[in-house]
Amino acid sequence: LNVLSVASEAVPLVKTGGLADVVGALPEALDPHGVAMTTMLPGYPAVVATLGKKPKVLHKWDSLLGEPARLLAGKIGTHTLLVLDAPGLFARGGGPYGDATGRDWADNWKRFAAFGRAAADLAGGAVKGLSFDLVHAHDWQAGMTLAYQRFAPAGPQLPSIITIHNMAFQGHYGADLFPALALPPEAMAIDGIEYHGGISFLKAGLASASRITTVSPTYAREIREPGFGMGLEGLIRAREADVSGIVNGIDPALWNPASDAALKAPFTAKALGKRAANTRALEAEFGLERGEGPLFIVISRLTWQKGMDVLLEASDHLVGIGGRLALLGSGDAALESGFHAAAARHPGRIGVRIGYDEALSHRMLGGGDAILVPSRFEPCGLTQLYGLAYGCVPIVSRTGGLADTVIDANLAARQAGVATGVQFDGVRYQTLADALTRTVQLYHQRSVWSAIQRAGMKADFSWDGSGKAYADLYQNLVVAA
Ligand code: ADP
Ligand code: GLC
Repeated sequence: LNVLSVASEAVPLVKTGGLADVVGALPEALDPHGVAMTTMLPGYPAVVATLGKKPKVLHKWDSLLGEPARLLAGKIGTHTLLVLDAPGLFARGGGPYGDATGRDWADNWKRFAAFGRAAADLAGGAVKGLSFDLVHAHDWQAGMTLAYQRFAPAGPQLPSIITIHNMAFQGHYGADLFPALALPPEAMAIDGIEYHGGISFLKAGLASASRITTVSPTYAREIREPGFGMGLEGLIRAREADVSGIVNGIDPALWNPASDAALKAPFTAKALGKRAANTRALEAEFGLERGEGPLFIVISRLTWQKGMDVLLEASDHLVGIGGRLALLGSGDAALESGFHAAAARHPGRIGVRIGYDEALSHRMLGGGDAILVPSRFEPCGLTQLYGLAYGCVPIVSRTGGLADTVIDANLAARQAGVATGVQFDGVRYQTLADALTRTVQLYHQRSVWSAIQRAGMKADFSWDGSGKAYADLYQNLVVAA
């Protein structure tokens, strides 16, 4: 089965969040199931640079929504990578979606519509030598692929999947752009790309896909409600029979405490005592005192989604009950300065690094006692999975993928030996403060705590099961087509 995976980020080439981890891991996850996955990315400078001086040109467009463009061939690991080189759209500094100050590019509609148009051309067989059985689009940036495929196909229409990694980002634009999209008038309809009088790229994908998936079963249910569906709950309900959740895996080659080169002292579930050397190193790195209580860590975008405002509010409580905190993240300026202020209030107890640092994130997981993920919504979440793998116990709100991947250490679960973390309901000061208190109490019962650590480390969050789930879905759609 040949599948074209269309996305705006993929590890190791370009990443702003978990989407990149997942898109980067999927081709390998699908190998054992007879699926050959080709990944298509926009030609950002960092991506084009990996293709060498004379990349192979597979196709040329004189005008892709008015822009000259080329399709370049590359590799992502051992798998085929296709890069849309359109300098007018992608050859610029800054990030994938905005300038260096974080402001979105004004022409994002054109960048990702052209990307979708090109992907739909590939799906329709317009590029000699490339043929696919199914298209898998990810998030709003790839949504237009499926609208072009449906309303202005370049050839036979392939079965398709769109995966929602985050309903909060939808790609909304004004109706005045419609003529520039080069779609027939019927596309601008309630079951097409139209959304409250404007245009929504995510809706375009959701309305046009054969099937819709999201990255956990609980989030698949939650997005039927307004608080999580963010305006698209009606569509999700209408297409209920076509919506399912497949939880993300993590790459065991990258996230394994026994072989992690970033760690001072690699360790296994059988030798948890070795973690202490990582903890001491982490304390030194963040300027923290040694303490009786747990060392909490955070690795996160600092945003409302992630509940970081509530954590900031609870940081005095965290220190008051004997905890310490090492935080790595970046995002909202008010939260960045808020955490700096908390660190200044609690020298030796709270340490803060504003920025993005992959190697540091590994050291934190290897040395921290508990990782905090108090998200208001979380389609899947990856850092709690890393925490489980590293014996860094996840403390999470009971939502989305956090609900599906962590087992709360209530009495019954502890007695059954299956508890892997702490969950709490509703992201507010009091619920988080109570969860922190409960965590400290569990931490002081040393054998209980190490049983929780070991149960998490034993849990299977590899791609084995989810790779098969995607492959089965592809297979069913292709057979039905
Ligand atoms: P989201 O995609 O919503 O941000 P996920 O938990 O799915 O949340 O994925 C976040 C990814 O980004 C993880 O791989 C996490 O380790 C990484 N990450 C987030 N912030 C940082 C940071 N400041 N430094 C290093 N890695 C980070
Ligand atoms: C999004 C979600 C996150 C999920 C990731 C990968 O960024 O916010 O919960 O883990 O996509 O699917």
